[in-house]
Parts: sequence; C-alpha cells; structure tokens
Amino acid sequence: MILRLFTLFLFVVVGTSALLADEPAMVSSPNGEISVTVSADSDRLYYEVSYKGKPVLAPSRLGFRLSEADGFDDGLSITGAAETSGDETWTLPWGERETVRNHFNELKVTVTEQKGPKRYLNVIFRVFDDGLGFRYDVPADSGFGKIGITDEITEFAFAEEARVWWMPARWWNRYEYVYNETQLHQVPMAHTPITMRRDDGLHISVHEAALTNYSGMSLEKSHATTFKANLAPGPDGVKVRQEGAFVTPWRTIQIAEAATGLLNSNLILNLNEPNKLGDVSWVQPGKYVGIWWGMHLGVESWGSGPIHGATTENTKRYIDFAAKYGFDGVLVEGWNEGWDGDWFHNGDVFNFTKPYPDYDFDELGQYARERGVRIIGHHETSGSVTNYENQMADSFALFAKNGIAQVKTGYVAHAGDIKRLDEDGNAVYEWHDGQFMSQHHERVLIEAAKHKISINAHEPIKDTGLRRTYPNWLAREGARGQEYNAWGSPGNPPSHTAVLPYTRMLSGPMDFTPGIFDLLFEEAQPNDRVRTTLAKQLSLYVVIYSPIQMAADLPENYEARLDAFQFIRDVPTDWSESIALNGEIGEYVTFARKAKGSEDWFLGSLTNEEARTLSVKLDFLTPGQAYKAEIYRDGPDADWDTNPYAMVIESRKVTAADALDLPLAPGGGMAVRFTPAK
Ligand code: NOJ
Ligand code: CA
Repeated sequence: MILRLFTLFLFVVVGTSALLADEPAMVSSPNGEISVTVSADSDRLYYEVSYKGKPVLAPSRLGFRLSEADGFDDGLSITGAAETSGDETWTLPWGERETVRNHFNELKVTVTEQKGPKRYLNVIFRVFDDGLGFRYDVPADSGFGKIGITDEITEFAFAEEARVWWMPARWWNRYEYVYNETQLHQVPMAHTPITMRRDDGLHISVHEAALTNYSGMSLEKSHATTFKANLAPGPDGVKVRQEGAFVTPWRTIQIAEAATGLLNSNLILNLNEPNKLGDVSWVQPGKYVGIWWGMHLGVESWGSGPIHGATTENTKRYIDFAAKYGFDGVLVEGWNEGWDGDWFHNGDVFNFTKPYPDYDFDELGQYARERGVRIIGHHETSGSVTNYENQMADSFALFAKNGIAQVKTGYVAHAGDIKRLDEDGNAVYEWHDGQFMSQHHERVLIEAAKHKISINAHEPIKDTGLRRTYPNWLAREGARGQEYNAWGSPGNPPSHTAVLPYTRMLSGPMDFTPGIFDLLFEEAQPNDRVRTTLAKQLSLYVVIYSPIQMAADLPENYEARLDAFQFIRDVPTDWSESIALNGEIGEYVTFARKAKGSEDWFLGSLTNEEARTLSVKLDFLTPGQAYKAEIYRDGPDADWDTNPYAMVIESRKVTAADALDLPLAPGGGMAVRFTPAK
C-alpha cells in the first residue's frame, strides 16, 4: 500500500497583532458561521462561542491551578494575538473515508501574568465549519518549569438548556454505561463525548482530541448549565505533571444543525498529529472470528479445565471456519497462563509468553499460515499494568515470530484500580483515563509498532483520534459492547446502538463485536438475550464503524443461517467514503459507505424500540449506473421482543435516481449491498 500523506498543504499567516492589553481577540470559521471571542475581564481569562450570531457558550473561564505554585487563573492579561489559517487535504491509510479536508482559521492568544514572575502561555483556537478545538500551549520559556496541575479551570458555560445524552464519569464501570437522556442542568459529571440538542435544534458535542501525556477530561457541573473540566487525578491527587514545554489535548466542540452533521464531521481527526509511524502498510483492517462468545455465554472457559476454549483442536476448528468463509483473523482468548482462579483480581499472575499446555502455539501459527488466516493475539492485563509492561516486548516478539499482526488488549479492573508499581516497588492505583494510562497506551502502540503489530484495546482510555498519529491503533471498546447482552441482565436496550453513533462513535472506531445470530441462547443463559432483530445485527457492520469487525457468534450459528451470513461475508471494513444520511439521537440512524477500491456501496440503518419506515435517496450512487441492491430487512411482523428472526432477503435493481424505503421493526435494522449491475 502506498502511503499518501499530504496532498495539499497550505498555511497562511493572516495577521499578527500586538494587542493593547486586554483587547478581546476574535476568530471565525472559514464560512463565518462559528465565532470565538477571547477576552480578559477583571483580570480573568474567558472565551465565548457563537453560531450564526447566537450564543453557544457564554463567557467561560480558562486557566489552571497548580500545586506548590500560584495558579494561572487570575491577574492575567492578553498580550498578543496571531491569526493563521490552514487548508490541506490529507489521506488516511484506513478509515471511514480516504481523504479528509482540514480547513480552519486559527487564533493564538498569548496570556501573561500582570505581576510576579510574569509567566505566560498561549491558548490556541482552531475554528472549522463543523466546530472548534482549543488547547493550552506552554512554551519552554514560559516560566512555568516543573508543575503539578491540581485543576484545569476550563469552563463550558452552555448558553441554553438542552436535551443531553451522557454517562457518568469517574464511576467504577469506566465507559460501560447505558447513556442517560436528561436535561443539561441534571448532569452531575459526565464522560466525553457528551452530546446535546437544544430547543432551537442546534446539536453540540464536547470531547477532546489528541489526549497524550495528560489526564482525560470529564465535564462537571458547576451551576445551572455551566460545566468545568474535571481531570482524572493521579494517586497523589495531582491531576497532571509536566516539566518544560507542553501542550494540552484539544478541547473540542462540534456544532451542527442536524444530528447527522455531527456524524459527518472530521474535527477530531483533523486536530490530531499526522502519522508518526511512517510506512504502515502492515496495518491491516479486516474481519475476524474467534474463541470468545462461548466464554461470555459460559459454555467455554478462559482458564484451563474441561471446557477450556483455547485448545489446539478448537482453534483449528475456528481457523478452518475462517478460511472457508473468507475471514482474515481468529482471535484466541485464554491461550496463556494466568486465567485460573479469580482472573478479575489476579492480574499479576498473567504470563504473556507462556501458553497453556493444551494450546500448541507454534503448530497453530503454522496451521493458520497454511490456510491464509492470522491468529489474533490477546493480552488481558486485569489492570496490572506494570506486570504487563514488563512482559509486552517479549510477548510482541513471540507473536510477530508466529505471524500474529494484531493484538487485543484488555484492562478489566474497576475504574481507578489500574495497578502500577512505583520506583520503590509499592503498588499505586491509577484511573483508566489518567495521565499514566494515556502514556501507557502510547508506550504499547510504539512497542507494538516495532513488531508490526496493531492494537485493539478493551477497557481502554477513551479515543481522541490518535489513530491518525498511530495508525496501528485499530479500534477499541470504551462503551457497552455486545458482551453485555450475554451477562448484562438485561443487557443493552434497543436504543443503545441508536445513541452510540452520536456519542461514543464521534471519538473513533469501536470493537462492538456485532453479528450474534442466536439471539436468545436459551440453554446457555436463559435470563439474557440480545434485544435486536436479526437484520439489526447485520446493520451494525455498517453503522458502528471499525476497521476490524468480528463475526462474534459461534460458527454453528452462522452455518445455520448461511443466507443472512452472506452479508457479513460481503461487507468490508475499510471505506473510501461514508455518509450519514439521516438520524436523530437515540432514535435512528442510516449510513451509506463505499467500499475501498471497489464500486460497491453498503447501507446500514437501525432504529430504537420504535418501528418506523425511513426513506433515503440513493443519490450517493454513481448517476446513470444500474445497481443490484441485495437487501436484508426486517420481516413485516418482525419485532426484537416477539419475533426477532423474521427477515426478508431480496434483490432489486436500483439507480441513483431512486429512493429506497427502509422498513424498520421495533429494535430492528436493515443492511444493503449495492453492486454495479453488468
Ligand atoms: C472484557 C472484554 O471486553 C472482552 O471482550 C474479553 O473477552 C474479556 N474482557 C476478557 O479479556
Ligand atoms: Ca469490556
């Protein structure tokens, strides 16, 4: 694969002005619709944001409080402002689309203390047509030196009430909650992305981009509809430690009139640094199956014993299945020693180079290779990160020798229970989204890249678009995935996957693991089930973007429904274009995506508990070209609750001039493949 990086790059310095102290500075988006004003009022620093002249954020404070030094939040003056703009088109090695336009106006505001040591920093605002990002930039000669940030003062004073979709932050289950839908003033503290819709229809989503060497930001209510940044603390309460020059992650605010405007935005990727890894042709998107769902259903085990899943024989069965049906990978969990006993709490005993005796590591590597399939490695750490860091280089080397090019990592531990040994060997505990973990994940990516290995992290730190910088960060979990349907009692509600696109998915790809065909599994887990129709399971392959998609069910359940399975076999995971065609948060969504290197288009649409018939124009197809549409839709009487398997599979001729009806059952969905007709 040829890596095309910058196809066009243009940076224009528009103007640098030595402002009179405290004169407000202003910048607008290229289309002029979004404006940001930065001002110092009563010696405090504020920014405000408007859209088409209407306030989005009322004046909101900026600044820091520090340990062992005065804060940088009072007695401040604006001492400089410089405006630049950029317009470039860059290429993704894999993704929802091939090229991305990065078009913005930037304002760099210099802020200086009036008294004392006259420390200074810059706040950089980048304003796009689809929102903005801003970050603090602390230069080497800023006078800060070595600091501990005890509080980032950054505020988000939302100008209006709104309906908001959010999940609690700093709770034990990390990012794995069903989203709440409330009024904005009812949110106590939330993870990002947090997404809202105002009464005037404006959609706003707050998140961050390029979270490296810093703590994750949550939004905490301070009063009414005003929120402030709340950073995950380190073990001593200090939130971030820095020395010398540094930048914070970008605080991002996506703004769109339609809900789909959020889905079609590239803001977060645009605010990340370009690929640092050079040639990444070894990073391969694809589809996989694996020894996985059986453990969640309780019919197989990770640990050794009579129902051990990762045996040589069982793995061969999966490799054969993958080879027969055209899958790239076979995930094998429970291959290594350490799972016996209470693996949730025994992370220190995981060994990442020692297979169980009934798992023949070398033989299976060869067996897979001969059949054109790759084994996907697995590293469950149970949150014992020092134990993992001590072994990861050896394990990646062992994997690479065996043809393994992808590793799923896992950090099953309560949030705040990441175990690290300090310099003296004492155990200290970190948050999954704290500064230490942001550094840890980067260390894993860099080490993995040395071995041409890509990473899919479960129980990760949230995604902030770092896949642009490290394209070997293929996917992550970081939300309630399919697994909750096996043991979540009652699992994910039908609306869950209608909320995810507008919240979690704004941050990046998710390893949701779709494709459960036996929706009731009455023998294995009689109290649980999947609360979707069968057609909706297919729609997830298009709706929930990931460059790696699992066919998560057991092979026998696919062989029992080869007609529906055909869609999973056909659907790609790498796209040249993606378009959100329609949608409302928590209700429904429809995506069309074009397969990379092909003229095929795919469509996925899903709904919450409500039945509805949507209609979409097929004008994304090439005009004048006839297409065969292979449609997988809910049957007329389908219902996730009472009749989940009712599905119609049909074929039709269509063109770009047609509209297509999407009849969705309660908890239902639809999947379509369009191929040019001869
Ligand atoms: C939780 C992950 O989400 C799941 O996919 C995995 O099977 C288990 N941890 C064990 O690592
Ligand atoms: Ca998980």
